[in-house]
Amino acid sequence: MKIHLFTLAILCFSLSQGLNQNPKCETQDHGSTLRVFHIYSPCSPFRPSKPLSWEESVLQMQAKDQARLLYFSNLVAKNSVVPIASGRQTIQSPTYIVKANIGTPPQTLLMAMDTSNDASWIPCTGCLGCSSSVFNTNKSTTFKPLGCQAPQCKLVPNPTCGGASCSFNMTYGGSTIAANLSQDTITLATDPVPGYTFGCIQKATGSSVPPQGLMGLARGPLSLLSQTQHLYQSTFSYCLPSFRSLSFSGSLRLGPIGQPKTIKFTPLLKNPRRSSLYYVNLVAIRVGRKIVDIPPAALAFNPNTGAGTIIDSGTVFTRLVAPAYTAVRDEFRRRIRDANRIRIRNANVTSLGGFDTCYSFPIVAPTMTFMFAGMNVTLPPDNLLIHSTAGSITCLAMAAAPDNVNSVLNVFANMQQQNHRILFDVPNSRLGVARELCT
Ligand SMILES: *[C@@H]1O[C@H](CO)[C@@H](O)[C@H](O)[C@H]1NC(C)=O
Ligand SMILES: *[C@@H]1O[C@H](CO)[C@@H](O)[C@H](O)[C@H]1NC(C)=O
Ligand SMILES: *[C@@H]1O[C@H](CO)[C@@H](O)[C@H](O)[C@H]1NC(C)=O
Ligand SMILES: *[C@@H]1O[C@H](CO)[C@@H](O)[C@H](O)[C@H]1NC(C)=O
Ligand SMILES: *[C@@H]1O[C@H](CO)[C@@H](O)[C@H](O)[C@H]1NC(C)=O
Repeated sequence: MKIHLFTLAILCFSLSQGLNQNPKCETQDHGSTLRVFHIYSPCSPFRPSKPLSWEESVLQMQAKDQARLLYFSNLVAKNSVVPIASGRQTIQSPTYIVKANIGTPPQTLLMAMDTSNDASWIPCTGCLGCSSSVFNTNKSTTFKPLGCQAPQCKLVPNPTCGGASCSFNMTYGGSTIAANLSQDTITLATDPVPGYTFGCIQKATGSSVPPQGLMGLARGPLSLLSQTQHLYQSTFSYCLPSFRSLSFSGSLRLGPIGQPKTIKFTPLLKNPRRSSLYYVNLVAIRVGRKIVDIPPAALAFNPNTGAGTIIDSGTVFTRLVAPAYTAVRDEFRRRIRDANRIRIRNANVTSLGGFDTCYSFPIVAPTMTFMFAGMNVTLPPDNLLIHSTAGSITCLAMAAAPDNVNSVLNVFANMQQQNHRILFDVPNSRLGVARELCT
């Protein structure tokens, strides 16, 4: 908690410094393609002022994942659709950010990219408890608060109509965020989107303050995709840079134009229990050449329970429900043991935080193939292992899903997606994956 608060204090401080440190960070986005930065990138004002040690950053990312997974569980417990997410994860776990211009004349803000969230919100002027970098609604000639009669007001949770505007609250752990539903022009790269509807944050109470806006790329009625239907036809792709190469940016390409022609596809599924999330059908997992023996129920898609596998941009490390994780991990360990037996006499496994398969000697690791319906994705060691800076510890960068009543969800997370082009083709209900080095 202490680290979290401290980090937030830094976020609030450095945000006010703008994005001016590095000329590379100032490059404008063109067409419908936005550069994507890792939260710890030199171009991100949210990076820690003092670089975190490897252990610290890994543990921090794990802790954020934990909160996010809890949110996914909660989505199943409630069976209603939550259009502007009331989730506890919305605020605290942006891993990748993009630049957006909002208002007329444009003001540059950073927004977290989140494929599992419908929320679009931005901290606004006059916000109590927000960081100093806010969208100044007074300076925009196109800003418009939405009233209670606006049809969009029916899509937010528990709207109140004290004044003229459609206001709503979202909770986050012990914190509450009060926002007014508003509209303004948002410019993504060079594409203006007039009348974009978002939550203008007016008040944030509690210890967790949202440092930036959130760009929801899920499928709900108020998400960016739904609002830009005419422009982007619910199609986008991204390439996420590795967090080992922090000076690299990836890209978020909006719309069907310029998307890869040769790419493998698997069907996208929709689960009524979590209708915004992007489900895929994970059929099996191969470690090296061996298909791991996983109980079929651990991977099965189930619309009644919400079980299955999602692809998510916000979770860092892939999570598999316990029986699947154990089977995969055991096979991975066996392979390491066999491959390294000759070189190393004592090949004991150690742990680090939530990772239970770490080695304190250099390992030769097998590839791992995620076998989706109609598409095999073979991940090289770069997508599977994290190494400490000194190279003294290497861990398998996956874990078992948290053990609670609703943990029926496998999450194919962003570390496993890095340096791949991931294409969300919603109109054709398919997800494409192709290897690509994002730079
Ligand atoms: C914005 O405008 C309103 C009304 O004109 C004014 O009351 C408020 O103080 C202004 N806020 C800022 C931050 O300029
Ligand atoms: C937000 O809504 C509240 C309650 O309706 C109202 O008092 C406040 O003036 C609104 N703020 C803006 C910027 O529209
Ligand atoms: C939302 O929060 C505001 C300020 O924190 C409070 O006055 C209001 O009653 C809350 N509304 C709801 C619906 O909880
Ligand atoms: C490795 O594991 C074996 C068996 O559990 C144990 O006896 C040995 O002390 C361990 N070695 C190290 C270096 O931890
Ligand atoms: C995936 O790999 C398996 C072999 O492990 C093969 O049988 C299957 O045809 C492959 N699927 C696709 C879509 O290439």
